[in-house]
Amino acid sequence: ARKRCQAKNSGRCNNQIRKHEPKVVDMIDVEDIAEKAAFCRCWKTKNWPYCDGSHAEHNKQTGDNVGPVVIKK
Ligand code: FES
Repeated sequence: ARKRCQAKNSGRCNNQIRKHEPKVVDMIDVEDIAEKAAFCRCWKTKNWPYCDGSHAEHNKQTGDNVGPVVIKK
């Protein structure tokens, strides 16, 4: 059981955001977006659900290539 738990944990991408919730879901009304908005896809932002540029450090440290999704009105 322990081994399975470790394997499960190693697949996690979310280490910090609303960990008390069973599933992190955000609903954004497109009418509330001014001109454009960048939403985080790396789970490292300090301003969830918005991108704060933290993906750059994540990519540097891990060799990953993730970035935000930008919604334009
Ligand atoms: Fe996560 Fe930019 S901070 S995508």
